[in-house]
Amino acid sequence: MSLLFSQTKLGPLTLQNCLVMSPLTRNRATGNVPGDLAVEYYGQRASVGLIVTEGTSPSPNGLGYPRIPGAFSVAQTAGWKRVTDAVHAKGAKIFLQLMHTGRIGHAANLPAGASIVAPSAVAAAGEIYTDVEGMKPHGTPKAMTEADIKTAIGEYVQAAKNAVTAGFDGVELHGANGYLIEQFIRPNSNQRKDAYGGSIENRARFGLEVAKAVIAAIGKDKVGIRLSPFGAFNDMPPYPEMEADYAYLARQLSALGLLYVHIVDHSSMGAPTVPQSVKDTFRKEFKGALILSGGYDAARAESDLAAGKADLIAVGRPVLANPDLVARWKAGAVLNAPDPTTFYTPGAKGYTDYPVLAKEPQPA
Ligand SMILES: Cc1cc2nc3c(=O)[nH]c(=O)nc-3n(C[C@H](O)[C@H](O)[C@H](O)COP(=O)(O)O)c2cc1C
Repeated sequence: MSLLFSQTKLGPLTLQNCLVMSPLTRNRATGNVPGDLAVEYYGQRASVGLIVTEGTSPSPNGLGYPRIPGAFSVAQTAGWKRVTDAVHAKGAKIFLQLMHTGRIGHAANLPAGASIVAPSAVAAAGEIYTDVEGMKPHGTPKAMTEADIKTAIGEYVQAAKNAVTAGFDGVELHGANGYLIEQFIRPNSNQRKDAYGGSIENRARFGLEVAKAVIAAIGKDKVGIRLSPFGAFNDMPPYPEMEADYAYLARQLSALGLLYVHIVDHSSMGAPTVPQSVKDTFRKEFKGALILSGGYDAARAESDLAAGKADLIAVGRPVLANPDLVARWKAGAVLNAPDPTTFYTPGAKGYTDYPVLAKEPQPA
């Protein structure tokens, strides 16, 4: 009996299996609105239990990358409604990942009137791609005032309400990978002296306030969060209190009653290893569902589910390259290899044109 392919529950939701499509930024949303290609792409992949969409900004200020979608305008909500309809028609559930890029961005990627904002005016090391000027150093962000923080929380709330209007089963707050919520959590990017900086109680405050406000708006059964303890992506160096800080977060998120925590582990992509002890702490301290991700194949997914390490397993690149990954894993079939040269390029190539297994000829 396979656990991976068995129906399961996530809070009040019934999922057709334990496989989650990881959030994957694909930069096909021209004008920051998901279009026909996104409807086709997500519909193709809806044999998983749960889809978490690509990072989607709750604010014009959070559109740090080119061609990423938003969830703050009427057109964006209408575009997403077509995506959720296509996914629900195939039996999967779908959550919108709310990603505010914060200091990861460049003015050339932002719409008119938007600005790069972050906890402190500390630019991230490294460069970011822009459509007009190619690779550019990350911009120096404006340090958010307390009024800016209130505005941003309001933007998350409105985006979550828009997500529900668009037919999403819930939202995933992107608290990982060096974006705004993690920029508050980590001491290198948060050098504030007020109630949002300093101790972990203060550095966690922004993310917890976002979670609390979004829960108040759409309900705790519709809110998950993604975190990357020990993640270093986007200039997030390790520091001594990391493990204790994330244990604090696990307890606070549990007290808020979030539906799930989704842990990132990019060690299969060459990033630092995430100690098993951190994952165990979340399992122990967080009472909701736990999703693990990073470098999974079917065998490891099955064995981690069987060992009770996670409730669901999220898979990124294999689903990107194999719209019918569930059928392929069930059949033990060969997988298409992902093509990194088309991860972030516009158009159908490398997006909706990965082949599916040929159907067995049916007896007449
Ligand atoms: C092309 C690409 C885009 C990604 N975009 C996002 C994103 O928008 N949000 C996020 O939380 N993680 C993002 N990730 C990380 C993936 O969700 C996942 O954690 C990573 O691919 C490791 O899982 P895998 O080994 O199953 O691919 C992205 C990864 C890739 C390869």
